[in-house]
Amino acid sequence: MMQVLSVASECAPLIKTGGLADVVGALPAAMAAEGVQVRTVLPGYPAVMQALTDPTIVLTGQSLGVPFRVLAAQVGDLDLLVLDAPQLFDRAGSIYLGPNGKDWPDNPLRFALLSQVAARIGVGAISDWQPQVIHAHDWQAGLVPEYLHGLGGSGKVGTILTIHNIAFHGLADASLLNMLQLSPARMNRDGFEFWGRISALKAGLIGADRLTTVSPTYAEELMTDAFGMGLDGVMRQRRDVLSGILNGIDEAAWNPATDPTIKPYKTTKGKTANKAALQAEFGLPTSDGPLCVMVSRLTEQKGVDLLLDALPTLLARSGQLIVLGSGATELEEGLRNAARDDHVGVRIGYDEALSHRIIAGGDCILVPSRFEPCGLTQMYGLRYGTIPLVALTGGLADTVINASPAGVLAGVATGIQFNPITADALRSAFTRLCDLYADGPLWARLQKNAMSHPVGWGPSAQAYAALYRDVAPSS
Ligand code: ADP
Ligand code: GLC
Repeated sequence: MMQVLSVASECAPLIKTGGLADVVGALPAAMAAEGVQVRTVLPGYPAVMQALTDPTIVLTGQSLGVPFRVLAAQVGDLDLLVLDAPQLFDRAGSIYLGPNGKDWPDNPLRFALLSQVAARIGVGAISDWQPQVIHAHDWQAGLVPEYLHGLGGSGKVGTILTIHNIAFHGLADASLLNMLQLSPARMNRDGFEFWGRISALKAGLIGADRLTTVSPTYAEELMTDAFGMGLDGVMRQRRDVLSGILNGIDEAAWNPATDPTIKPYKTTKGKTANKAALQAEFGLPTSDGPLCVMVSRLTEQKGVDLLLDALPTLLARSGQLIVLGSGATELEEGLRNAARDDHVGVRIGYDEALSHRIIAGGDCILVPSRFEPCGLTQMYGLRYGTIPLVALTGGLADTVINASPAGVLAGVATGIQFNPITADALRSAFTRLCDLYADGPLWARLQKNAMSHPVGWGPSAQAYAALYRDVAPSS
């Protein structure tokens, strides 16, 4: 059986700030179906340490001046290797941000250690287990190929880096070269240097055997200056090893027929009771227009400002809005202001169960992102018969089929896309939404199409398995 070490900074259901965790958490089960065993190495944050029962110590040592242990444990269907380094990971609050809302100052060291330890496991540091492939996720695991090279292990194990979001580079000051035990000879344009600083992501982009990202459209976008965030040149250089593999969703956790957090339903008729319950929960009156919902981190990426701008058009057509999210203060503030309208409900915070009730109760789920590597909530929407209204970008372009008149008639359309990504285009999308919603039979057809659209892992798991076989050293 193919053995793979997956390396990431988050993993659902143990520790999550966004879709990265969902994907890292779902990958092992998805890959098991393809005959691949995935073990996941994760930092030992308090939430992770608390979830371990009966761990075994499989490695003890010191790297980058930090003493650590690696604990092996099974949690649900996750086979975990937990990096226990209390000095770096045993702290309360956000996994990335300190109490001042800024990155923990030692983030470069924290995730360099994660990468270093993963590389050591890659060259056989754990006595009874040798992975054939290391699958690194995002900048937090970006230094794996670099450290592997340093350990002389490049031929011993294949490497894949998946880009979940190129906006985060994992930059560190050049003065940290020594502390991170990185070679000064590689601190240049062809190496991991990015405008005078160390870039953990770039190290992975130039060093991994293969690169993937989480949708085919984002793979193309990454090579353009509009989306590459300064790394588009590197992406173009490596276009031969880059591919886009669409995320799936966890179809057990997101199944309207069995979801314990909602009033379960098999057909869209069952949505009525969930909508009424949701309106009641947020104190919204009943209305003739569509109830739009959004569950999201509130950042520039997610286009919340566009939504606030275009909102009056939706409300004028008797539409309603419910948002669950947290993030940037000014966006939270803007949403709270919008919630003064009786037809708008806002909950600032993070709430897994509420996210299910919202997605089940909404008529339409909004994802007006400026860029979106894949996006998961539009896929939850499809599965729950909650029509996605999305910006035409990245994974949103690959998972939703736009309801052009022909598309609806042909029975293939599943949602609404808008382009360019502006408040004006969103306003017209709201108008199209309200027109469609007003046509009962057409809307029902759209919902049916959405619910039967595939959102699972099947083809993507096969694509990853093929890549693993490609990069695994021949034994
Ligand atoms: P990103 O990873 O960029 O945040 P995704 O759409 O890929 O975007 O994934 C976001 C994940 O986080 C989804 O599972 C979504 O339901 C969840 N999520 C985001 N914000 C919240 C929140 N406030 N409460 C509950 N779940 C949330
Ligand atoms: C990132 C992206 C999101 C993607 C997720 C999982 O957080 O912003 O689009 O779905 O990773 O791959």
